[in-house]
Amino acid sequence: MSAAALSSPPAHWTRKDLLGIEDLSREELDCVFATAEQFKATLDRTQKKVPSLRGRTIVNLFLEPSTRTRVAFEIAASRLSADVITISGNSSSLVKGETLRDTAENIQALNADMLVIRHSAAGSAQYLSRIVRIPVINAGDGAHEHPTQALLDAFTLREKFGKDLRKLKVTILGDILFSRVARSNIWCLQKLGAEVTLAGPATLVPKMFERFGVRVLHNLRDALADADAVMLLRIQHERQTSTHFPSLGEYTSMFGLNRLRASWLKPGAIIMHPGPINRGVEIDSELADSSRSVILEQVTNGVAVRMAVLYLCASAMPGENQNGRWKMENGKTNPTTSQ
Ligand code: CP
Repeated sequence: MSAAALSSPPAHWTRKDLLGIEDLSREELDCVFATAEQFKATLDRTQKKVPSLRGRTIVNLFLEPSTRTRVAFEIAASRLSADVITISGNSSSLVKGETLRDTAENIQALNADMLVIRHSAAGSAQYLSRIVRIPVINAGDGAHEHPTQALLDAFTLREKFGKDLRKLKVTILGDILFSRVARSNIWCLQKLGAEVTLAGPATLVPKMFERFGVRVLHNLRDALADADAVMLLRIQHERQTSTHFPSLGEYTSMFGLNRLRASWLKPGAIIMHPGPINRGVEIDSELADSSRSVILEQVTNGVAVRMAVLYLCASAMPGENQNGRWKMENGKTNPTTSQ
């Protein structure tokens, strides 16, 4: 879609909060992708800013470490002409004993217009969405969900394989048990009609995941043989409370993606990873840097997808839209006109 052909936001979006993928409809997913396509086209311009959220203030409350998600949300807000403020855990009054609820209510009292939250506790974003009136965007809550990661992963798959992902075979390999990325991707990919295989050691990929409608395999060769894309996951040390495999070295020797194992993939299969990657653990450096890898394209797409999410959730606020259409200051509805 050319920048000149950009239209008003699709009318399928009515949510002010993005808390997870599980309860999104197929139409809502398509709405995010269509909006992100429009915003991605603007990012190639010399003038990359669009006025869509001019005058709004977005607060990123990141209470867990992050590089990609935090910076992508900051850039996305900036590209939308919003003011953006990032608060990290150790620089906030949470370290003085303030509760998460009080922190969020104070951010709202400071007249912030949106709150993006990353937190180690599953359900934290949903909890805050019940407390504050402003939109709450989940940037990763414990092992529960990481919705914008799954959206940017699917957006990247659509770019690589076409918009119809039905029957596309995606293998997610690694620490599924503790991964919010895996959970959001399972929901997202299945809603889009893709066939999902989970692979890794039985301790990290228990058969119980089959109840989500996915295939669970512990034989890596079988899991890679028919995959169109393999999505690697890092071992989530920070969430593991007991030992699930003898050592990182043993994990790598059994399940790390190396040149030999990559040769089991189909010729056109791509390698994905949400990052941060642990080179030499779940993936060898030569594969992370190979032409099969789309890892950095995923990162790039994170900006357009997060612009779409911020824009759509803001447009769903009462008084901010009419029949799902964002009302611009000039009365027009095009979200991507350059300033
Ligand atoms: N993929 C991802 O969430 O990376 P960060 O932890 O760096 O944000």
